[in-house]
Amino acid sequence: MKLTFFSSQPYDRIFFERYNDSLGFELSFLDVALDETTASLAKGSDAVCVFVNDKVTAPVIASLKDNGTKVIALRCAGFNNVDIEACRQNEIHVCRVPAYSPEAVAEHAVAMILTLNRKTHKAYNRVREQNFSLNGLLGFNLHGKTVGVIGTGNIGKAFCRIMLGFGCTVKAFDLVANKEMEAIGVTYHPLMEVLQSDIISLHCPLNEQTRHLIGPETIGYVKKGAMLINTGRGALIDTKTMIEALKKGYISALGLDVYEQEEKLFFRDLSTKIIQDDDIQRLMSFPNVLITAHQAFFTDEALSQIAMTTLNNVSQLLKNSNLKDQAALLV
Ligand code: NAI
Repeated sequence: MKLTFFSSQPYDRIFFERYNDSLGFELSFLDVALDETTASLAKGSDAVCVFVNDKVTAPVIASLKDNGTKVIALRCAGFNNVDIEACRQNEIHVCRVPAYSPEAVAEHAVAMILTLNRKTHKAYNRVREQNFSLNGLLGFNLHGKTVGVIGTGNIGKAFCRIMLGFGCTVKAFDLVANKEMEAIGVTYHPLMEVLQSDIISLHCPLNEQTRHLIGPETIGYVKKGAMLINTGRGALIDTKTMIEALKKGYISALGLDVYEQEEKLFFRDLSTKIIQDDDIQRLMSFPNVLITAHQAFFTDEALSQIAMTTLNNVSQLLKNSNLKDQAALLV
């Protein structure tokens, strides 16, 4: 059984080869992204494995089907880049890794909060230059602050637990209140009230309801001086609105692990290239913006879990057309 990877990186090869011994797939690693021009490279593959910025559109799915692909395996949790209906119509199974390591992403969101607040990234450079001044490094205590969490699924829950540990008041917005979270002190409120928190962290999926969740209609509800963290998906935030809010000093700090136009930038070394995306250049020019390139998931534990679960998903789907873990099965 042949499994072809798109957008693969050296670390994907290491982790997938490590866990493939017992399953014995023929693994083929391509570094190109999946789109209409590259779909034919999967010819003869029983399954393809894709990541967050591969474009699994209707024409791509039709091409995969023509070339014999039966399963599309996402090696991630979010699936906003896949035309699920087109997969259904073409009778191609789609699976994902629903909860490989929620703590990895939650801990990265917290790392961004601590960095932006206590400015350790600036202090590190300063001290190396023998500048021992503290001016400009003033932070605030997290203890006693209100943290707003949008989406209390696997990652949001892990994030809430950490923030409660810091002594924060945690207010959440989700379509359904989670009893386990309520039991430990998280309270649920309408979105506009949660946007009034000192720190806001986004942990909901990207879909038609959440696209530009922070945008022209909602930015006015965000507390003046709030810190905003996005480790969900880039398009949860309207970039243009955010740039304006930063210019006006409306947002005190912004932490992005995901970016609306990230597919042309992230997961590549562009250090010798001229970046054509003026929005990211503007964002990077603000002293109170911290950007990481979609690395929140990037821990040893998470990559192990992703590789094991993905290979097992593909194996089960090719053998039985079904999965034990129904949360992993999208089609
Ligand atoms: P999950 O499915 O466990 O939880 C999502 C939560 O969001 C659910 O509780 C759901 O009810 C809620 N939700 C859905 N629509 C909503 C809406 N309109 N408003 C408010 N809440 C809503 O997903 P999980 O594992 O917690 O992941 C969340 C997102 O994080 C993923 O969809 C993915 O986009 C992103 N992610 C980012 C990673 C990174 O490396 N930066 C890695 C993994 C996931």
